[in-house]
Amino acid sequence: MSNNPIKPGRVTWTSPSNIALVKYWGKYGRQLPTNPSISLTLSQAYTETTVAYAPSDKPSYTFTFEGQKKPAFEKKVVGYLESIRDVFPLVSRLDLKIDSRNTFPHSSGIASSASSMSALAMCLVDIAKQVSSSSELDLRLASELARLGSGSASRSVYGPVAIWGDNTTTKEASNNYAIPYAEGIAEIFSSYHDDILIISKSEKSVSSRAGHALMDNNPYALNRYEQAHIHLGEIIAAMQNGDLEKFGSIVEKEALTLHALMMASEPPYMLMEPNTLAAINRIQTYRKEKNIPVYFTLDAGPNIHLLYPHQYADDIHIFKNELATYCADGRIIEDRVGTGPLKKA
Ligand code: PMV
Repeated sequence: MSNNPIKPGRVTWTSPSNIALVKYWGKYGRQLPTNPSISLTLSQAYTETTVAYAPSDKPSYTFTFEGQKKPAFEKKVVGYLESIRDVFPLVSRLDLKIDSRNTFPHSSGIASSASSMSALAMCLVDIAKQVSSSSELDLRLASELARLGSGSASRSVYGPVAIWGDNTTTKEASNNYAIPYAEGIAEIFSSYHDDILIISKSEKSVSSRAGHALMDNNPYALNRYEQAHIHLGEIIAAMQNGDLEKFGSIVEKEALTLHALMMASEPPYMLMEPNTLAAINRIQTYRKEKNIPVYFTLDAGPNIHLLYPHQYADDIHIFKNELATYCADGRIIEDRVGTGPLKKA
């Protein structure tokens, strides 16, 4: 980094959420994954973050959400910025004023950590680029910084497909940061739909952080980590061959395994709701009846992600009237695969 005096400035980035196909569940050390994961990057559910920066000998950080003070969020963001000083020393030389907003409503049941941490990370590496007058945006560093805020956020830095975690199928992958994965992936996946059925808006009874920690003593943990490696190899092959049936069967197995691991934790817990199961049953019978490759996945919560190719959007549009009856206030959030973070002028 050059020693040019730092001029004050401001950057704005949007960054989307992502949906894991092979799930990251379990971590060690400093937010490192116990197994590799792969995700589709989304486009409609995103965070927009603006960071105003100025040189300072005594750095101070402020955070607002939609222009309003939110002390609980601010505490997290300030704690995060202080925690990354070793990886990103520039934060020790800057005052930062951060404002953030989401396109999806707060407490809609959609996790915002992947989009918010990746949007902030994009702003930070963009500031580093400007301060050092470099021409390159360091996306690996952005992914690493995002990971330190929230593991899954490491994957939101790239679209349409990202892989995070050491594995033998993609040798360039790393536990430290995610990589984009385009090699041979069938075109159909870059316009895939992901509709999110909001089964419940309530706060989860067990946070992801606590859930990851419970993997340490989960009796099935080692088998699970091995299975994730196998699933990663298989799903990459299915995505390269455009084999939607194989793709869907792995995605559904991954979702159910994630929740089975929760039920097999000590203490055991359950995040699916009765309507999660009812909707899953209906999706599976609809798929058989209509012969349409629509599959579900789940995050660490009761809500369902409905994955299907664009060519079936009209059929699924009609089906969604029925699925809405399983949702809180009939709510379904429509999303699509996208290309990743964008800089706003
Ligand atoms: O990024 P975290 O710590 O919120 O964990 C996310 C874990 C899952 O969403 C369940 C799976 C994943 O890979 O995104």
